[in-house]
Amino acid sequence: MAGVTRLAVLVSGSGSNLQAILDAAAGDNDFGAEITVVIADRPGVRGLRRAQAAGIPAEVVAWPDHADRDAFTAAICDAAARHGAAGLVLAGFMRVLAPVAITRFPDAILNVHPALLPAFPGADAVRQALDYGVAVTGATVHFVDEQVDHGPIISQSAVPVLPGDDERSLHARIQAVEHRIYPEAVKAFAHGRLRTVGRRVVWQQVPIEGN
Ligand code: GRF
Repeated sequence: MAGVTRLAVLVSGSGSNLQAILDAAAGDNDFGAEITVVIADRPGVRGLRRAQAAGIPAEVVAWPDHADRDAFTAAICDAAARHGAAGLVLAGFMRVLAPVAITRFPDAILNVHPALLPAFPGADAVRQALDYGVAVTGATVHFVDEQVDHGPIISQSAVPVLPGDDERSLHARIQAVEHRIYPEAVKAFAHGRLRTVGRRVVWQQVPIEGN
């Protein structure tokens, strides 16, 4: 049997994407990834409780405890490394990591964003889409690079904006899509099936050599 890829999941809030990944892993003998630690940038968030309920170590690396973004990022990477993680899965993590994270985990940081990038990067993506008046928005899973919400796109799925939608109703339908495409992407990553060629991510049928 192929080895399991150990991953750290980073959260700032509810952690529903974390839960989707944990549920996918629990229900699939061939998932290929083990979440070895959940790290939050603040105490008391539901994502930490979800980790504890699943019997997974949960750590807080609090932003105010660090001198700057580099120190904060180094502490996150250290915590992930202590738990043997080979990659970081950002799941509603509301801090921007310093470039040192990419040096420490090259091509191994994933993020989910509630819009069809490159449309509506940054915070309030759902609000931005509503304000712009788009008929279709969606969810994006992408690799993290040095720029915010910018790295190569792993997968996307569209979500229609319905008459009467508000931020809450639209975000709920986007999240339902996230909960499907993020675990799929994490599984493919864990199996070494994602090959990045420039900005394009190719889903390979068989693992890339060396994985
Ligand atoms: C998701 O919609 C994700 O796209 C965005 O933050 C939200 C996190 O939700 N980055 P949750 O914490 O996974 O429930």
